[in-house]
Amino acid sequence: MKVVAFNGSARKDGNTAVMIRRVLEVLEEEGIETELIQLAGERIFGCRACGTCVKNKNKQCINEDDKINAYIRKVIDADGLILGSPVYFSMVTPELKALIDRVGYVSRANGDLLKGKVGAAVVAVRRAGAMTTFDAINHSF
Ligand SMILES: Cc1cc2nc3c(=O)[nH]c(=O)nc-3n(C[C@H](O)[C@H](O)[C@H](O)COP(=O)(O)O)c2cc1C
Repeated sequence: MKVVAFNGSARKDGNTAVMIRRVLEVLEEEGIETELIQLAGERIFGCRACGTCVKNKNKQCINEDDKINAYIRKVIDADGLILGSPVYFSMVTPELKALIDRVGYVSRANGDLLKGKVGAAVVAVRRAGAMTTFDAINHSF
């Protein structure tokens, strides 16, 4: 059994990585294989909405300019997924959103590749309590 974790933070080995690693430690104690993929420093583009994955149905994205197809293969091979992100203006980071959009679209185009997998989220914040996007833009962190 394998769990793959993606860290969407722009800071490699920052707060989100510390928290994801803590989760992975517990999984490893249970005999589950784990892998942490940090998106910091990686170029990862948003979905171009070209629809080619829907036509081709080959479990791949046509855009080969980044590592998305390698990440899609990691997701397909995993039994469980962890998506980790710091909060950036009340949202996940652009890198993690790009991953979600592109993996999600290819998954749906191929009969739901994520079906049957378990998932969990890890979120790092600076300030306690929920903030709306409007609040976040109008406050310093
Ligand atoms: C561009 C940007 C936007 C942020 N927006 C928020 C926010 O809306 N709310 C919040 O609590 N923290 C916000 N933060 C702070 C980070 O979420 C926080 O420092 C987090 O622990 C960083 O995790 P990391 O070390 O894994 O990058 C923001 C940080 C950055 C760089």
